[in-house]
Amino acid sequence: MTTSPKISGRVFSGAQPSGNMHLGNYLGAFKNWARLQDSYEALYCIVDMHAITVWQDPLILQAQIREAAAAYIASGVDPARSILYNQSKVAGHAELAWIFNCVARLGWLNRMTQFKDKAGKNKEKASVGLYVYPNLMAADILLYKATHVPVGEDQKQHLELTRDIAQKFNSDYNADIFPLTEPVIMGEGARVMSLRDGSKKMSKSDPSDMSRINLNDNADTLAAKIRKARTDAEPLPSDASGLQGRPEAANLVGIYAALMDQSRDSVCAEYEGQGFAEFKKALTDVVAAKLAPITEEMARLQKEPDYIDGILLDGAEKARVLAAPVLAEVKRTVGYL
Ligand code: TYM
Repeated sequence: MTTSPKISGRVFSGAQPSGNMHLGNYLGAFKNWARLQDSYEALYCIVDMHAITVWQDPLILQAQIREAAAAYIASGVDPARSILYNQSKVAGHAELAWIFNCVARLGWLNRMTQFKDKAGKNKEKASVGLYVYPNLMAADILLYKATHVPVGEDQKQHLELTRDIAQKFNSDYNADIFPLTEPVIMGEGARVMSLRDGSKKMSKSDPSDMSRINLNDNADTLAAKIRKARTDAEPLPSDASGLQGRPEAANLVGIYAALMDQSRDSVCAEYEGQGFAEFKKALTDVVAAKLAPITEEMARLQKEPDYIDGILLDGAEKARVLAAPVLAEVKRTVGYL
């Protein structure tokens, strides 16, 4: 248990158990979650209710929930210090999401770029859940009156919507209930791109496994993925301004910088003039060294499903205790008897 005093404020974040956790999740989210738990009371949720907004095979979903828990813990989330649980165990998420469905406006949801990306051309066939997904996300955060939400850059628009919902609720009901949550988007890893296409983010749902480094890839697999990653023919520039207009090159330098807690400028200074064939070797060493302990710990934890289930059960109990007074306050405010 930590003895360091906590800063006032509460952190909430989550990830969908809808496929392989990857380097983008680690650098954009998990790595920062582990850091923030030293200073803040933190809840880290496996958002299984969000996951089913697109089809999930039930047996695979169960395995993926446990795998997500293993990924959080292996990345440094400490269940003794932070609350780790899966969303569907705390009914308050769904209850508050319904109230927010009645607060958020259609026009706001129509602007969400993630819905447009995920629904694609055939949006008539998308689930209604996918459309109202951002309201559930606002409920996740505000159910605990979280003040800080560490995420990758792709979640920025959803967090702006969360603030809009908080503000509208407070103003509609003339009540000062919800805080205006701050996004925490940290460092060079906030937007890790696909290894095959520097204009697309690294994603669980990319059909090409070569586009991402999974947290459970072994050393040979990740070496092959980095070797085959797209780059250009130019050498590394002297500083990061020379990476402009070179998205694939910028991405590889960014991954190195994020893993080593350096800036892109300092990575460029170190490797200035070298070709990407050389740089990729250095990058492979860094990725392998940083990910190996995580991959090993994930594999170890996944052999102990009862241990993981116990942590999730315990986390859900703690989360329910924190959610109860907020939900009661909201229900009173809305006028429920
Ligand atoms: P999800 O499951 O897509 O991703 C989990 C976290 O990983 C970050 N991330 C990335 N960061 C950098 N580069 C990438 N290529 C990359 N891909 C993913 C995401 O930004 C995220 O922080 N809607 C959320 C889950 C969610 C949530 C919440 C988050 C539901 N409720 C409440 C925060 C608070 C999502 O789909 O994340």
